[in-house]
Amino acid sequence: MTEAAPRSVASLDAISLSKSFGGVHALNEASFSAFPGEVHALVGENGAGKSTLIKLLGGRLRPDRGRIALHGAPIALRNAAAAHRLGCWTVFQELTLLSAMSVAENLLLRREPRGIFGLTSERRLRSAAEAVFARFGITDIDPSALIEDLPLAARQVIEIVRALSHDPNILLLDEPTSALMERETAWLFGEVRKLRDAGRTVVFTSHRWHEIAAIADRITVFRGGRDVGSFTALAEDEAVALMTGARVEALYPQRPPLPAETPALTLSGLAGGRLAAASFTLHRGEILGIGGLAGHGHRELFLILFGAMAARGGRIWREGREIRPRSPRQAIAAGIALVPEDRKTEGLLLPLSVRDNLTLAVLGRLSRLGVLRRRKIRAAAAAMIARLKVRTPHAAAPVGALSGGNQQKVLLGRWLLTASEVLLFYDVTRGVDVATKHEIYELMTALAREGRAILYYSSDAEELAHLAHRVLVLREGRIAAELPAAGLTAERIVAAAMREREAA
Ligand SMILES: Nc1ncnc2c1ncn2[C@@H]1O[C@H](COP(=O)(O)OP(=O)(O)OP(=O)(O)O)[C@@H](O)[C@H]1O
Ligand SMILES: [Mg+2]
Repeated sequence: MTEAAPRSVASLDAISLSKSFGGVHALNEASFSAFPGEVHALVGENGAGKSTLIKLLGGRLRPDRGRIALHGAPIALRNAAAAHRLGCWTVFQELTLLSAMSVAENLLLRREPRGIFGLTSERRLRSAAEAVFARFGITDIDPSALIEDLPLAARQVIEIVRALSHDPNILLLDEPTSALMERETAWLFGEVRKLRDAGRTVVFTSHRWHEIAAIADRITVFRGGRDVGSFTALAEDEAVALMTGARVEALYPQRPPLPAETPALTLSGLAGGRLAAASFTLHRGEILGIGGLAGHGHRELFLILFGAMAARGGRIWREGREIRPRSPRQAIAAGIALVPEDRKTEGLLLPLSVRDNLTLAVLGRLSRLGVLRRRKIRAAAAAMIARLKVRTPHAAAPVGALSGGNQQKVLLGRWLLTASEVLLFYDVTRGVDVATKHEIYELMTALAREGRAILYYSSDAEELAHLAHRVLVLREGRIAAELPAAGLTAERIVAAAMREREAA
């Protein structure tokens, strides 16, 4: 690790900023400086205070104590407009677009082009928005579309374009990539590099280390509302130890040993949606990685196996018996469970308690026990909360009150309670902090050690390279490569995913 040496005049100084919400100290004397021509990453666990800091710098919140300086001059940011006047624009973690309005209206809010009578015509608005998109190379978003009809990734791109279009001197990006696919992330990084090369400052947060490594010139690590150091070079394990206060030293656990081959799940020519034909066997005790770029059939593969999407063709065997899961219920009965990525929309019922969310998928089984039911449910939930180290005040607390990482653990716990032999892990570490990621990795390897069979898709190739016994790379709906664990690297997985494209 290389500690950063101070330089001349910073474009942005956060000086001992503190901010509390009720009794929670979100920030406690947090400081860092960013310089012109620099991409500065802020990293830390969920709840470390990154978003609070960005809201203070963007004028969204006001600090309880501490100061902010821009280009060496102390300033008080009364509101976001004050920050904007000083050339400081923010893309917040939560989207801010007005969902019932059009793309163009959102993009050009409060700076609509006006005609001779001061009126804004639909046509004029549309062509102005098209011009803004064209400037940033965006061609696939319709300016007349309503925000609410667009997928999350497109909304995130619009938020980013809106900030970019103001020619920011300082651009603050709070987890801009968590909703983006590889292609949009590559686009964003291109725009960020242009700003940096023009001498601007970009502040960036992400829970994905490969993104930090790819784009950051300097990194400041936060823990518990306080900065714990700024660095120009930092290895992932060093960062993890700093973020967690050395609770976690090495991010990836050892791969579990592979037992003698016993097939748990066999596929032959499975097809549906963009999945053209997948044939492979997953064994007991194995972590079988599925790699490749989004949109090449991964999602379909997982949904079909879980009975949540109909197959167009192909066959599936569970321990030698042919199955055709037509609903998640049937998949679970066949011993197959899916842990999905998006805990907010696909998994959890936020107002319900941690206990209810955990036991949702096994209520049928537990209720057959009649009188023992309530006690069984309580015991099962309590055991899972302990096993997964879910940080919750009590089992009856609503899931919506937990931090993101802990919500994800509850979702994991629900499927573990089904005692399914085959576990489908679909990008479960998205937006999850390093400490929780580490716990999920440990859990996954422990499950494999117990003899469960794990099919594991991750959009982070680094994870697959460290944890999977082998990786199948999907490209255009087919298995384009099978990579063994020996000598496996993220680069090799990405190269196998891209090969076709390069040749084309
Ligand atoms: N408006 C609020 N009211 C109450 N508590 C808040 C509020 N905003 C943030 N907090 C608390 O402040 C702490 C810091 O939150 P913050 O959102 O800044 O973390 P973060 O580092 O951005 O986390 P993540 O990586 O999950 O986005 C957390 O404990 C959070 O629950
Ligand atoms: Mg945040």
